[in-house]
Amino acid sequence: MNSNLKSPAASTTSATTQPVLEVSAVHKAYGKVEVLHGVDLTIAAGERVALMGPSGSGKSTLLNCLSGIEPIDAGAIRVGSYALSHASESELERYRRECIGYIFQSFHLLPTLSALENIELPGQLIGMPTAERTERVQTLLDAVGLTHRADHKPDAMSGGERQRVAIARAIMHRPQVILADEPTGSLDSTSGDRILDLLESLSRQYSIALLLVTHESSATRICERVVHMKDGCIVNA
Ligand SMILES: Nc1ncnc2c1ncn2[C@@H]1O[C@H](COP(=O)(O)OP(=O)(O)O)[C@@H](O)[C@H]1O
Ligand SMILES: [Mg+2]
Repeated sequence: MNSNLKSPAASTTSATTQPVLEVSAVHKAYGKVEVLHGVDLTIAAGERVALMGPSGSGKSTLLNCLSGIEPIDAGAIRVGSYALSHASESELERYRRECIGYIFQSFHLLPTLSALENIELPGQLIGMPTAERTERVQTLLDAVGLTHRADHKPDAMSGGERQRVAIARAIMHRPQVILADEPTGSLDSTSGDRILDLLESLSRQYSIALLLVTHESSATRICERVVHMKDGCIVNA
């Protein structure tokens, strides 16, 4: 799967068929302990991929490298037009604000902001004009079924509602890729199912690629492909 997409022949096709994300031979160590031992992964624009693997196999580390939070020791990561290994701090910051949306198991909403304000924030950070921002927030609140909760703070919302706010926030700036790290891990199965349905429909609607880390095989139903990670390597890319 990787080899054909890494080939330079890809450049002879139109730009829209270029993979949105390419990871090649990525190594990452914490201190002397290497956690990623040469990871290869390619994701097409708009493609939804599930990443499964035992606890400790390096899934979150890979997502942190893809988000530019963790620097890599060797190899290359390209997402959209950004080559992360060569990016400066300010380019990495722009990359995080423009190119990716991140969803965590534990939501990571800002507790002092309302649902609406949490969703609006990424738009403010990239300087989106107020009218466009306001319209987008309303559309997203509606899409995640939370218009009636717009003014509530996270601690007045259920886990499922918080995660719906986090999803709306993650796509507010129309990223090319959503990185979701066990997004249903702390939810009951009904709320979790709703979160998965939302991720699938928003990914389709806005053509956003999704890399979904999950240990629930049922969650793979929204993905077109499943890759497995073991001991810091992807074993079936
Ligand atoms: N910040 C860190 N410092 C040191 N070791 C870490 C750090 N983050 C993760 N690790 C180690 O890297 C390995 C992979 O962890 P992680 O990527 O969280 O796995 P997964 O998400 O698949 O459960 C584990 O052995 C973990 O202890
Ligand atoms: Mg993890």
